[in-house]
Amino acid sequence: MTPVHIGIMGCASVARRKVLPAMAALPGIEIAAIASRDPDKAAEAARAHGCRAVKGYEALLDLDEVEAVYVPLPNALHAAWIDHALSAGKHVLAEKPMTTSASRTGGLIAKARARRLVLMENVMFPHHRQHAVVRGQLEDGAIGDLRAFHASFGVPRRPADDVRYSAELGGGALMDAGVYPVRAAMSFLGSDLTVLSAVLTHRHGQHVDSAGHALLHSSGGVGAQLTFGLDHSYRSSYELWGSAGRIVVEHAFTPPADHVPVIRLERSSGVQEIRLTPDDQVANSVSAFATAVRSGRFPDSGGTLQQAALIEDIGARARRCVDHTPGLADTIQTKELS
Ligand SMILES: NC(=O)c1ccc[n+]([C@@H]2O[C@H](COP(=O)([O-])OP(=O)(O)OC[C@H]3O[C@@H](n4cnc5c(N)ncnc54)[C@H](OP(=O)(O)O)[C@@H]3O)[C@@H](O)[C@H]2O)c1
Repeated sequence: MTPVHIGIMGCASVARRKVLPAMAALPGIEIAAIASRDPDKAAEAARAHGCRAVKGYEALLDLDEVEAVYVPLPNALHAAWIDHALSAGKHVLAEKPMTTSASRTGGLIAKARARRLVLMENVMFPHHRQHAVVRGQLEDGAIGDLRAFHASFGVPRRPADDVRYSAELGGGALMDAGVYPVRAAMSFLGSDLTVLSAVLTHRHGQHVDSAGHALLHSSGGVGAQLTFGLDHSYRSSYELWGSAGRIVVEHAFTPPADHVPVIRLERSSGVQEIRLTPDDQVANSVSAFATAVRSGRFPDSGGTLQQAALIEDIGARARRCVDHTPGLADTIQTKELS
């Protein structure tokens, strides 16, 4: 397969830490250029990958040798740059969430299809093989009939200027962290999910939600309780609770490539831990994108569309709460600035 020549739009942390190293190691991808608003940043990143440095994203789209772009910009900027990239005839791998609105996501997917271009959202965890093993256990009746689903994704607080705390840039816990438990619920409970209720919590003085939870149910009556947050000790797990047992998966959503997955199966007969060989979900996701570009077989966008609709619905239905813990915001702010 001729490698897909890809251009990188912005020197984002996720690009530098995860996606660029995975792309560099894959034969199906060649990093052709890295663009940044800051030419020095672009030059430094490009040096590390032996590719061209470009100032500005528009200039990246003007390059003929770039046939696809990776968009790891702040959430609110995804839509406009995906749109520009598609208009310029480039395939697009977009960071999650694809956009901050379900209708915009739908419009861009339609535009990509009409132009025979691949547009894929980089939700990586479904590309990890551990979830197929869990699905197999469920289908084999290991825990009986599924009665309930719980999923959580939360990360510790970041510096105050992180894009996740900017409402203007599409930040907030629901947009950033909520995607994972929502997508996990979809993959085990099916596509017919309804949002029953939700709560989004804002820290006093902050413009975005820092935490949330949502209650969903499937058409078959199975409930899903989802929790997410940006000011939490690290948690990345889900649990399937059935009539005859329980399956628990820790490190479910962002396991590193060397992580040894352990699937915990609890039944009346005892507890079994199924150890799997490590898998690299970042490489798998990027590889799926490259294969789609080269084969012309477009990735199924149904999951992206449904996820966008559910995220929007959770946001629309959520009761908003303000956490007034006295002095909390000030304390955190002072610590981070010192
Ligand atoms: N799939 C995953 O596992 C995963 C993990 C983490 C993050 N993400 C997603 O990746 C995206 C980026 O997240 P991140 O944490 O990597 O963000 P980040 O480090 O803040 O990077 C965002 C990049 O966007 C560019 N940018 C353009 N306009 C900007 C503006 N007004 N303010 C700030 N940056 C601007 C900057 O690049 P230049 O200055 O170089 O132009 C910046 O480096 C988000 O959509 C996030 O949801 C996905």
